[in-house]
Amino acid sequence: MHTPRKVRKAVFPVAGSGTRFLPATKAMPKEMLPVLDKPLIQYAVEEAAAAGIEQMIFVTGRNKRAIEDHFDRSPELEMLLQAQGKTTLLEALRSAAPAGVNFVYVRQPEPLGLGHAVLCAASVVGDEPFAVILADDLIDAQPGVTAQLVHSYARHGASVLGVEDIPLADAGKYGIVASDPIGGNDERVTQIVEKPAPEEAPSTLAVVGRYVLCPQIFGELARTPRGRGGEIQLTDAIARRVAQGEVVAHRFAGTRFDCGSKAGFVQANIAFAKNAGLMPETR
Ligand code: G1P
Repeated sequence: MHTPRKVRKAVFPVAGSGTRFLPATKAMPKEMLPVLDKPLIQYAVEEAAAAGIEQMIFVTGRNKRAIEDHFDRSPELEMLLQAQGKTTLLEALRSAAPAGVNFVYVRQPEPLGLGHAVLCAASVVGDEPFAVILADDLIDAQPGVTAQLVHSYARHGASVLGVEDIPLADAGKYGIVASDPIGGNDERVTQIVEKPAPEEAPSTLAVVGRYVLCPQIFGELARTPRGRGGEIQLTDAIARRVAQGEVVAHRFAGTRFDCGSKAGFVQANIAFAKNAGLMPETR
């Protein structure tokens, strides 16, 4: 355990190719797919900002320039909307980047996995705790899930994983933990396995795309050999911290949509449209 420090930085691994959404993602990053009127990555950045994160670190790859443009100013468009008196749209345009945060872009030169992507951000994060947010997992929650994890980290001074129960048949899609309750919605992780077959899963408690990690994870990642799928798995490095008794699972409150799948993406759009009053209930 460590004395908790302020969590100021978040890492967004966005180098993945998004093949499941081809051809939509042929020339556009999957993180720019919109749920209603906002790209997935903007929900993730807003969730981080609401948790007090000040620096957004994107681990990008080829074909991801649209993400950088999205969080940049757009002077020509701003001038046009201003001249046309379209103030609401102007506000929507400017609010893409939350106030008071800065953006850093790091490249992941090869697709060597989530663990490798996080390791690419090591020198920008430095020696402090940080959040990892996978924009594919869109979570409707109040307060946001990153804020919930930051509070759990402040209670325990240990790395925290956002978890929820999934159907056993889906175990092979997730990192699965075994854990013991330690109070409230927190559990001490005793084991973590990446994408086990259902019969080998230690439980149905799955890690979804939210983490607050202590910087010791970088040393573990640097020592982690390629694992499942020939990739450097974040789960394998976390497993080494588990062995030190230093990992907590937090059962977050909120509704998750797996926007990495077509079904989850469509469900998210329907749910957000209903919340916005755009889909009157049919009888
Ligand atoms: C990654 C992680 C996995 C985690 C999942 C959450 O898998 O490796 O442990 O449960 O994200 O979405 P991916 O979905 O990138 O295959």
